[in-house]
Amino acid sequence: MAVETPHLGVPIKPEDFAAWDRSISPDGAGLPPGKGTAAQGKENFALKCSGCHGADGAGKPADRLVGGVGTLASDAPIKTVGSYWPYATTLFDYVRRAMPLNEPQSLTDDEVYAVSAYVLFLNGLVTEKDQINAKTLAKLKMPNRDNFFIVYPGNLK
Ligand code: HEC
Repeated sequence: MAVETPHLGVPIKPEDFAAWDRSISPDGAGLPPGKGTAAQGKENFALKCSGCHGADGAGKPADRLVGGVGTLASDAPIKTVGSYWPYATTLFDYVRRAMPLNEPQSLTDDEVYAVSAYVLFLNGLVTEKDQINAKTLAKLKMPNRDNFFIVYPGNLK
């Protein structure tokens, strides 16, 4: 039986919803077609990212994106994409969603793949020529991956 509603609003069209339905799972589900290499992302990084994240992602004025592996348990932990983030797929999701901060969602999917590849390259996780796409990004194991785990009574040692 149809429910009587106040007839407010209009149903959203699938093509309008698509712009919001863009979350990517850790396992890579939701990654779009496309590809890029660090070599291809280098120029865009210099043009559109380094003004805030420093040359080579060294930081300042905004977050440092590179290095810090092995510092997390120290008195001066350095949390970066390389040292802290458990999944490389999150990098694509975050950059596509939110970066560059002054012009979010202005990059094409290929450009996001390429600039993500460049950030991974700066962290020593891929070579300049490795192709980053939905498959390879999901397969990449981040250095801090194993330090994120779900604690249920059953898997406490
Ligand atoms: C106008 C300045 C600005 C520009 C340009 C910019 N960013 Fe950012 N970025 C930020 C700020 C500020 C944050 C922190 C946002 C927050 O914590 O909410 C950030 C956060 C990030 C993070 C998450 C860092 C972390 O460890 O939490 C990544 C990755 C990133 N940016 C990548 C990029 C890439 C790639 C580009 C270029 C396509 C870019 N940013 C361009 C200002 C900028």
